[in-house]
Amino acid sequence: MNDLLKVIHNRASIRKFTGEHIPESDMEQIMSAAQSVPSINNYQPVTYVEITDQSVKDQAADLVNMPYVASSDRFFVILADYHKLLVGFEGKEREIAQTNLSAYNIAEGAALSAGVSAYAAIIAAESLGYGGVTMAGPVRAFQIYENYLDLPEMTKVVFTLALGVPDGHPGVKPKLPLSTFWQKDSYDTNVIDQGIADYNKTMRSYYESRNIDENWTEHNKKALTKAKDTTALTEYAKRKGFNLK
Ligand SMILES: Cc1cc2nc3c(=O)[nH]c(=O)nc-3n(C[C@H](O)[C@H](O)[C@H](O)COP(=O)(O)O)c2cc1C
Repeated sequence: MNDLLKVIHNRASIRKFTGEHIPESDMEQIMSAAQSVPSINNYQPVTYVEITDQSVKDQAADLVNMPYVASSDRFFVILADYHKLLVGFEGKEREIAQTNLSAYNIAEGAALSAGVSAYAAIIAAESLGYGGVTMAGPVRAFQIYENYLDLPEMTKVVFTLALGVPDGHPGVKPKLPLSTFWQKDSYDTNVIDQGIADYNKTMRSYYESRNIDENWTEHNKKALTKAKDTTALTEYAKRKGFNLK
């Protein structure tokens, strides 16, 4: 494996940090890598806002019950951002453009662009000896960010990123067999079923090493069979001008 492939394959989400600082010069390399990525129509609809106020990080961490938001050295909210794109658009032109940007595929394109970018940030960070985790959960603390950051219309938090100096390596989490991920010409559900059966065995051993008695399917059932009210998140998107149609 070449060095880049090694970094990719050794990556694991890091949620424990030593508390050491990532210097600004390394952060500049990480952020310019994160900015270098492909984006929908070259709209570049992504903005990272670093939250440096520890009390804001603490509030968000508490609200979503993810302590590593607070203990990370660098915490970012990642915006789907069509505000920048509309700079210079006035009146009717702006109204039509804003409607077009609300089309499902275009709105989704901004979120996809954010995801692609966050992964580049993680890989760049890992290549420099840092680590972190990309997270959707802390989006639920949107009101805290809105109060603090004064975000304009057509920007919304879609993802978050926590970075720092890893306090140990948690081990690479096994993934589904490649046969379930890469199919040719048709979607073969037999291959999927077999792959998941194999993966459930792998994941049972993986979880066992962490004193958890479950496999992948059981793990997912726990999360996916609880009723969840996501109205506030949908309303948040609408309020910010992302009226999906
Ligand atoms: C879209 C997305 C959302 C995620 N949200 C969270 C989150 O809210 N909290 C968290 O701790 N990890 C989050 N993660 C990290 C995943 O839990 C992690 O990638 C997964 O368990 C696989 O582990 P690995 O990254 O170590 O390979 C998220 C990852 C992605 C791509």
